[in-house]
Amino acid sequence: MRDKKVLVVGGGGREHAIVDALSRSPQVAQIFCAPGNAGIAAQATCVPIKDTDVEGLKAFALENAVDLTVVGPEAALAVGIVDAFRAAGLPIFGHSKAATRIESSKEFAKQIMEKYGVPTAAYKSFSDFDEALAYVNGRPFPAVLKYDGLAAGKGVVIAQDAAEAEAALRSMLLDASFGQGKVVVEDFLTGPEFSFMCFVNGRDVYPMPLSQDHKRAFDADKGPNTGGMGAYTGLPFIDDKDWKDAYEGILRRTAEAMCQEGCPLSGVLYGGLMKTPQGVKVIEFNARFGDPETEVVLPLLQSDIYEIFAGIALDRPVPQPQWADYVTLGVVLASKGYPGHYDKGFPIRGLNGVDARLYHMGTARRENELVTAGGRVLMVVAKGADIREAREKVYAEVAKIDCDNLFYRKDIAHIALEQ
Ligand code: AMP
Ligand code: GLY
Repeated sequence: MRDKKVLVVGGGGREHAIVDALSRSPQVAQIFCAPGNAGIAAQATCVPIKDTDVEGLKAFALENAVDLTVVGPEAALAVGIVDAFRAAGLPIFGHSKAATRIESSKEFAKQIMEKYGVPTAAYKSFSDFDEALAYVNGRPFPAVLKYDGLAAGKGVVIAQDAAEAEAALRSMLLDASFGQGKVVVEDFLTGPEFSFMCFVNGRDVYPMPLSQDHKRAFDADKGPNTGGMGAYTGLPFIDDKDWKDAYEGILRRTAEAMCQEGCPLSGVLYGGLMKTPQGVKVIEFNARFGDPETEVVLPLLQSDIYEIFAGIALDRPVPQPQWADYVTLGVVLASKGYPGHYDKGFPIRGLNGVDARLYHMGTARRENELVTAGGRVLMVVAKGADIREAREKVYAEVAKIDCDNLFYRKDIAHIALEQ
């Protein structure tokens, strides 16, 4: 029966893809999204509550008899939204604050991986600047320096030499740019990166199709790091053995470890993995759906996503999710200047003619017009029998969008096509 009310927390492209998937559920009658965005508003009722306003969200869920809340961003998980909802008897899809440490503390994640034999780069953590500097200078460069806490994707520095390492350590440990915390120093690994997301409930781990993000702003992986400029599924460079090693030795082993540590997972576990010459290793874990990976992965889901979310939230078995066998490829349109300074408020036209999935990341409505309102603005996702077909389709559709202040990468999936 179509009678369920769902609240989605967040307001970016990832949440738009979650709302889109929920709107295909035969059980879902109404979707709310807090705070949502101008595109999400076409499929859900947007409510102006901040994603970390746990009390406000809880009051809304109670007042509106929401059957299930689904959390997008890590910030909400890290402030304990799941613990607060559970204490109030409200079903919610997402990890407890304690389990979210797999993302919110790099040191915690590293300790778990070391203790349970999950393959990752060797590391050491420091709170003292001089000790950290001495250690880094006694090792080969480049050195990988990671701030131990949430730093909005800006807490990782790959230092090429001693001067760069000193500057980064100074900023992280002496100037406390992201707050008071430790720094994890780890070995530099090489190889293609990919994202392996799973729905997890305790020891039950349901894999999603693999995807690959494009973190650099410009073609050929040049320019500064961003939140992600595009993604695709159907990775040709991961064979069955790599997949099995990653699923068994990384995702399932970590889920088991978290049970043994007394903080079982209950939500999405995102493995940011690298296929190194020594096998697949973990670069980072996230405790939530990836963005922009979710926008290419969820369109492949053929099962009822409400059943998966509600099953995990209520701790009941979930039928194995079914996935389509075509591939998807998505391109992010970002404001010129992003990830640095950019202007907002430019009209976006031509969206009605686009024959592809369109996820809004940072848009707003001004009078009757859709305008840019963020760094990453839109993601266009097309499907195809193979990557080449999906890529041709997506760029043909992107060309229909008319806006004076957007740029995008022209080479999404280049690693796959160079194979
Ligand atoms: P993270 O926030 O941990 O995902 O790191 C951001 C980016 O830094 C990753 O996507 C990698 O490209 C790079 N990176 C992080 N750790 C390493 C490592 N140990 N070796 C090489 N590159 C790394
Ligand atoms: N695409 C990387 C992330 O979601 O963290």
